[in-house]
Amino acid sequence: MPKLTRRDFLKLVGAGIGGIVLACSGLTFVATREPDIAMPQNTFGGNTKMASKVLVAYVTKSGSTVQVAETIGKSLADKGAIVDVRPIKAITNLDGYQAVVVGSGVRIGKWLPEAVEFVKKNQAKLNQVPTAFFTVHLLNLDESEASKQGRQLYAADARQSVNPRIEGFFAGKMEYAKLSWLERWMAQTMKAQEQDLRDWNKIGAWAQSLVPSVVQV
Ligand SMILES: Cc1cc2nc3c(=O)[nH]c(=O)nc-3n(C[C@H](O)[C@H](O)[C@H](O)COP(=O)(O)O)c2cc1C
Repeated sequence: MPKLTRRDFLKLVGAGIGGIVLACSGLTFVATREPDIAMPQNTFGGNTKMASKVLVAYVTKSGSTVQVAETIGKSLADKGAIVDVRPIKAITNLDGYQAVVVGSGVRIGKWLPEAVEFVKKNQAKLNQVPTAFFTVHLLNLDESEASKQGRQLYAADARQSVNPRIEGFFAGKMEYAKLSWLERWMAQTMKAQEQDLRDWNKIGAWAQSLVPSVVQV
C-alpha cells in the first residue's frame, strides 16, 4: 500500500470537507427553492378627479396574499380611490400616497421578514399617513381570546415601528404545489390540509371599512 504523506492526508481531508459543504449547500438550495409565484402590479380606479391615491403593499411566499391585496385594491377603487397594488420588492418610494395598506402572509408565527423590513425602512412616511395592516394566515382563526392574542403576535415586529389605524386578519390558503420542499415537509408534519379559506366578501367589506378613517375619498 502506498504511503500517505501528511500533504496527501491534508488534501484528502480538505476534499472531503469541500464535498460535504457542496452537498449541504446543494441540498439547502433544493429544499428551499420555491415554485414560481406571480406577483402582479396593478392599479385600480382613477375615474374620479382628485381621488385619493392609496398604496396596497404586499408580501407573499406561496401566492395567496396576492389576490387578497387585489381584492382590497378593487374594493377601495369601488369607493372612489386610485389604488396601486404592488409587491413590496417593486416599491421604490411612497411619495404621492395619501394612505398605505401593508399586508403579509404568515410563516411560523410571524409576518414574512420583507414586510417587517419594509415597515421599518419606511416608518417615517408610514407614521405620517394613515396606515392599515392586514395578515393572511391559517391558525388562530376563531374568536377565542387565545386566538385573538395569537393573531396579534403575527405583525408584532412591524408594530414596533408603525402603529396602524386598523388591522385586518384573513383566513388564507394552503396549496402544497406552491411550497418549497422544506415548507411542504413542514406543512405535512403539521398535518396541514390543502384548503382555500379566503372569504372575498369579508376581505372586501374590511377594505371598504377603511373609508374614511384610513382612506379619504
Ligand atoms: C411552512 C408554513 C408555516 C406556516 N405557519 C403559520 C403560522 O405559524 N400561523 C398561521 O396562522 N399560518 C401559518 N401558515 C399558513 C400561511 O400563513 C397561509 O397559508 C397563508 O395563506 C400564506 O400566505 P402566502 O400564500 O401569501 O405566502 C404557514 C404556512 C406554511 C406553508
